[in-house]
Amino acid sequence: MTSTPDVLSCIQPTADLHVGNYFGAVANWVKLQQTHRCIYGIVDFHAITMPYDPVALRKNTRNMVIDLLACGVDPEKSILFVQSLVPEHCELCWILSSQCSFGDLSRMTQFKDKSQKLQSESGDDYISAGLFFYPVLQAADILAYRASYVPVGKDQEQHLELSRGIARRFNQRFNTDLFPEPKPLFTQTPRIMSLAQPESKMSKSAGPKHYVGLFEEEASIRKKIKSAVTDTGLPAAEETMSPGVANLFEILRACQADIAADQLQTDYQAGQLKYAQLKGAVGDALVALTEPFRRRRQALVGDEAMIDQQIRQLSEQARQIAADTLNRVRKLTGFPKSQP
Ligand code: TRP
Repeated sequence: MTSTPDVLSCIQPTADLHVGNYFGAVANWVKLQQTHRCIYGIVDFHAITMPYDPVALRKNTRNMVIDLLACGVDPEKSILFVQSLVPEHCELCWILSSQCSFGDLSRMTQFKDKSQKLQSESGDDYISAGLFFYPVLQAADILAYRASYVPVGKDQEQHLELSRGIARRFNQRFNTDLFPEPKPLFTQTPRIMSLAQPESKMSKSAGPKHYVGLFEEEASIRKKIKSAVTDTGLPAAEETMSPGVANLFEILRACQADIAADQLQTDYQAGQLKYAQLKGAVGDALVALTEPFRRRRQALVGDEAMIDQQIRQLSEQARQIAADTLNRVRKLTGFPKSQP
């Protein structure tokens, strides 16, 4: 297949997805498959721009493929690829880098945030040029497939704008309409907060009490929800909901347990909600949601060689599209064809 997809999105290969990642991104990917031709990538080349361990990277990349398949990314409907298995991304990144100004890259707030964080946390002032260049590779990820829509979080808005600018400049400079200007798809997704510190987003870096892993065992899920921060005592009817309680309701609704959520919300408003009840319901809903994921994951793990072969096959489909784009790009930009 060399027809281009409508929707493209990518994720970095971090260790183990948590429910915040699932509701914020992956659930939407799975849903979009029903209505659009989608291509999804695991961007391992992006992961080396911050300090990293090669053994962990290799493992996380393989795991992320399994996790996404277990969540319902369906290779019958969509293409799933690993970025480093599609070398065209780097080639396109290099060509596009000359259609992107140094000034534009210097304005990327994610680079500023990440480099400041690195300096303050490690006390090391080594900032890789890769971190600075990261958005050009992201533009190449998108433009290699000439995708029109990119589901991303608001934090990626500036990178998407840069990708559009690169597409526009390329098209003008080489007098072509090869690249559509990719539009972000900001779907309303539930924003799940940390269980232990419900003022901040759920993340793994803060420690195990802060998140629920998507493939965690039932007992562990229930235990974590039980110890989630709420507030003290029964709520008074007129009080505004504390962030911890609001987050539990948000999780419940994200799991589509609306009937239970409505009932508990009525109790809350009447000042009669016992948090143990709410937590019980959230535990039930999360266990029910993730049970099939755990089951599918179990069936997939174990045979690394088989998994690696599957990753290669899946990425090969992506490569056909990217190679077609690259041949057109090479022609337009004055390079010989790389493949016969
Ligand atoms: N920068 C994105 C993130 O941190 C990941 C990413 C890389 C991406 N390439 C992409 C997202 C292409 C969408 C499209 O989340």
